[in-house]
Amino acid sequence: MLFSAKEMILKRKSVRTFDGKGLSDDDLAFLEETIRNLSVPFSVQPQFRILNAKEYGLSSPVVVGEEWYLLGKIEKKAQWELSYGYALEYLCLAALSRKIGTVIIAGTLNRPVFEKAIDVKDHEIMPAVTPLGIPAEKRSLREILMRKGIHADDRIPYESMVGYEPDCVLTEADAALFREALEMARLAPSAVNRQPARAVINGNTVDFYEEKSLKENELGDIQKVDLGAAVCHFDLVMQENGASGRFEYDPEKAGNPFEREYIISWKKD
Ligand SMILES: Cc1cc2nc3c(=O)[nH]c(=O)nc-3n(C[C@H](O)[C@H](O)[C@H](O)COP(=O)(O)O)c2cc1C
Repeated sequence: MLFSAKEMILKRKSVRTFDGKGLSDDDLAFLEETIRNLSVPFSVQPQFRILNAKEYGLSSPVVVGEEWYLLGKIEKKAQWELSYGYALEYLCLAALSRKIGTVIIAGTLNRPVFEKAIDVKDHEIMPAVTPLGIPAEKRSLREILMRKGIHADDRIPYESMVGYEPDCVLTEADAALFREALEMARLAPSAVNRQPARAVINGNTVDFYEEKSLKENELGDIQKVDLGAAVCHFDLVMQENGASGRFEYDPEKAGNPFEREYIISWKKD
C-alpha cells in the first residue's frame, strides 16, 4: 500500500480551513498518479479529476483558503454509492499521507457549477467532492462551531455499531482482526456525522448494514456513500494486517430497506 492505513485513519479529521497556498507540483503529481492507479473492489468504477478552484469557479460556503478540488462522477449502476464512498475516502487517506487535508462535501456546495466542471452526463452522478490543501494552523470560527454543532469528534460506542449472529463461532485470531478493522471503520467520516454503518459478525464473515437517519433526496441516499467510506477503512486495515478476503453481496440477506438495510458482506478466505 502507498501509506499506512491505520496511521492515516487515526490521524484523519475533516479539514475546512486551508492555508491559502495551494499544493506543490509534487503533491499534485502524487494525487494524479494515485487517481490513475485507483481500483475499487466493486464493479462500477468512479472517475476523478483535480481542478483549480479559481479557474472553474469552485467554492463551498464552509471551506476557506482552498485552491484545488477533487471532483468525481460515477455511472448510476448497482453499488455506485459504495464504490464512490470507498474511492473518495481512499483518496482522502492517500492525500493525508502527504499532509494534504480534505473534507468530503455532498451538501454544502454550489452543485451545478461542480457538475458542469466535471461534465456529469444523464446516466452519471457526482455524489460528493473534496477541497485539497494544506490545513491552516487554526480552524475558522465557522468550522469550530460547525464541528461542535454536529459533534464531529464523537463516535457511537463500538458495541452499538457491532453485533454477533447468535450462533457465531469465531477464532480468537479472527475476533482480534475483525475488532481492529471495525474500530477503524467506526472512525470513518459520515454526512452530518450520523454514522450509519453497522456490522454483524458471523464466523469468517462480517455483514454491513445501514442504519438510516437522513432522508433521501433527488441524488439518492447519501448514507450509502458513508457506508463506502466505512468499508474502505475496514478493507484497508484487513489488507494491512495481511488478512485475505473479499466483498460479496448476499441477496438472501437483503430484507426490509426502511430501517437497517443490508449493504454488503466481507468474507475472510
Ligand atoms: C458522504 C459525506 C458527505 C458529507 N457532506 C458534508 C457537507 O456537505 N458539508 C460539510 O461541511 N461536511 C460534510 N461531510 C463531513 C462530515 O461532516 C464529517 O465527516 C463528520 O462531521 C465527522 O467529522 P470528521 O470527518 O472530522 O471525523 C460529509 C461527509 C461524508 C462522508
